[in-house]
Amino acid sequence: MRNGWKAAILVFGIAMIIVSGAGGGGMRPASRKVPEGWKFTVPRGDAETGKAVFMMMECYACHKIQSSDLKLPLPSGTDGPDLTGYSTLPREYLADSIIRAHRVVAAPGYVVRKGKAGMGKYNHFMTIQELIDLTAFLKEKS
Ligand code: HEC
Repeated sequence: MRNGWKAAILVFGIAMIIVSGAGGGGMRPASRKVPEGWKFTVPRGDAETGKAVFMMMECYACHKIQSSDLKLPLPSGTDGPDLTGYSTLPREYLADSIIRAHRVVAAPGYVVRKGKAGMGKYNHFMTIQELIDLTAFLKEKS
């Protein structure tokens, strides 16, 4: 049985090495911190290009923006909130609206239909630049 004990002690020893290794054992690198004052902001984009993206992706099919100089086609019925006046909202909120569905929206009186996110997902084909320019368009023209 002596060899059995030796084997047991060896297995135990190896287990302890693995466990202490997994814990970092004092070899941990210093914790990372974001630089002071850092905040996520959406860069300034180009509103004209953003309008072209709005047209190309047919955002107008569900959203109207009441502004005489925009001349957008009228929504085709699938109702999304009226985006008129969204220019007063922070750019980060506008970009967030495009990245994910909101259960409560900024448009007064608009109630999101329960259990049915009405807006499609764009994340898999919209480029980051298109997102930035769309945000600029909403920020400057809505
Ligand atoms: C099929 C209809 C439809 C299309 C197309 C559509 N949306 Fe929406 N959108 C919605 C609906 C419905 C909501 C309400 C929230 C939700 O269901 O996601 C919404 C919400 C929004 C909001 C407001 C969110 C808030 O919190 O106030 C913005 C901004 C917006 N969409 C921008 C866009 C842009 C930009 C596009 C084009 C890339 C687009 N939408 C295309 C239906 C649509």
